[in-house]
Amino acid sequence: MIRIALTKGRIEQKAIEIFEKIGYDCSELHNKGRRLFFNIGDGIEVVLAKANDVVTYVDHGVCDIGVVGKDTIMEMGRSLYECLDLGFGKCRFALACKKDFDFFGGYGHRIVASKYPNVTKEFFRTRGLDVEVVKIDGSVELAPLLGLADGIVDIVETGSTLKENGLEVVCDVAPISARLIVNPASLKLKKNGIDKIIDSIAQVI
Ligand code: PRP
Repeated sequence: MIRIALTKGRIEQKAIEIFEKIGYDCSELHNKGRRLFFNIGDGIEVVLAKANDVVTYVDHGVCDIGVVGKDTIMEMGRSLYECLDLGFGKCRFALACKKDFDFFGGYGHRIVASKYPNVTKEFFRTRGLDVEVVKIDGSVELAPLLGLADGIVDIVETGSTLKENGLEVVCDVAPISARLIVNPASLKLKKNGIDKIIDSIAQVI
């Protein structure tokens, strides 16, 4: 049996489309109700989980394969075996601030809010900039508007959330897309089955 952990939400539908393209039966995933385990045939079981938990389950080896965004992988900072860039869920991490605010100008102490404090700290550390990072759990765009922060590091997809809130991108931080991660021990123990899945997915993406 091979168990795949799939991130609930944005990534879920695209991943299901890929599983269907390579011939798995995803009917249970289309009528999921409150269930969390799904059999898609050929000895493969899919579990639905939050992004951070997908990484944790694959890291601990209770799931063999995971489908998760690069944003989560970067924030969790684990050295996971990323075997495929799935090419969907494309967006980016960007630093943004209020329109017309000169973020890098002057010598003032800067405060940056983010749902991704580790990504944010790493970005400024590699640039040798001493910035205070404040962790926010959602709608991080509020932080500069309320005066808590000078800027934010957040996911930007279409850019409309920033625009509608009077914010603009200062610079890009990193590109993001959905990734296929594999537990290294599973890759050895279940090599044939896992290679078959990776090869089939690689052919349709
Ligand atoms: C993300 C991100 C932005 C928005 C960007 O939030 O935090 O708020 O999407 O997308 P856009 O550039 O297309 O406007 P998400 O929808 O994941 O919700 P969250 O704030 O609850 O994390």
